[in-house]
Amino acid sequence: MENKVQWAVVTGASSGIGYCYAQALAKRGINVFVTARRKDRLDQLKEHLQSKYGVEIEVFVCDLLEENAPQKIFDAASAGGRSIDILINNAGLGHFGNFLENKYDDHRVAMSINMERLSSLIWLFAKSMLNSKNSCYIQNIASISSFISTPKLAVYAATKAYVHSLSRALATEWRDTNIKISCLCPGLTTTEFMERADWKLGSLAAKGAMSSECVVEMGCQALFSGKMVKITGFTNWMYVLLSRFVPYKIVIALFQRMLGTKASV
Ligand SMILES: NC(=O)c1ccc[n+]([C@@H]2O[C@H](COP(=O)([O-])OP(=O)(O)OC[C@H]3O[C@@H](n4cnc5c(N)ncnc54)[C@H](OP(=O)(O)O)[C@@H]3O)[C@@H](O)[C@H]2O)c1
Repeated sequence: MENKVQWAVVTGASSGIGYCYAQALAKRGINVFVTARRKDRLDQLKEHLQSKYGVEIEVFVCDLLEENAPQKIFDAASAGGRSIDILINNAGLGHFGNFLENKYDDHRVAMSINMERLSSLIWLFAKSMLNSKNSCYIQNIASISSFISTPKLAVYAATKAYVHSLSRALATEWRDTNIKISCLCPGLTTTEFMERADWKLGSLAAKGAMSSECVVEMGCQALFSGKMVKITGFTNWMYVLLSRFVPYKIVIALFQRMLGTKASV
């Protein structure tokens, strides 16, 4: 099934998990349409992947907060009748700190990118995928925080719970179609996320963070096998399991102790 795929779209491909997704897909011989705001990063990625894997990489610079950004991405990705068989809905962000301590505008941006823009991209690409004769794949990047309300990441965790819930429901709605949709739930992963989130990880948490490469390999396996929800790594899986059976107050107390502090204080 994998070798029928021609083109994938990866949002947030300029760093971290998205960057690794573009690499992992190119390595599998898939052409990739990469999008984010930082053109220099995307151009470097393009040069690297084209020369290393001989695939086509197309760069599209776009701020997801711009009006009609999902439609612009869809139109550019589908230009010339190109059909997109894979969508990796990866762009996302959060802000560490108490709800009232952070600016409301930061909450608005996280809600907009993590939920509204993500949903809009799913809607646009899935409508077109349904008309394709190929098997098509969508993966939404959520987080293990989608399983548990997380103080100091309250809005972020709530947006990821939305992503998780939406992905499960759509996987069921589309069970008998050519679209497989999955939800990847990474735990702490070493990327630029923490810096953007103004978040200084506790030392134990920093030691346990996974690499983006490792997360993405698990993500790719889930993507092509049609696994509905994939939690990355044994420790993260244990944490989610614990949250089901141990009272919330205890789980969150353990988790909060590990998480760390705001970087700017
Ligand atoms: N790192 C973790 O511990 C972790 C854990 C669980 C889940 N996740 C999720 O994994 C996904 C990827 O995050 P990451 O860890 O790889 O962080 P990252 O390195 O900060 O990457 C975030 C990506 O999103 C893009 N982005 C941010 N704002 C954007 C905007 N307004 N318009 C377009 N693109 C935008 C960034 O590109 P530009 O700045 O160039 O636009 C960047 O490519 C996110 O959904 C995150 O919630 C991360």
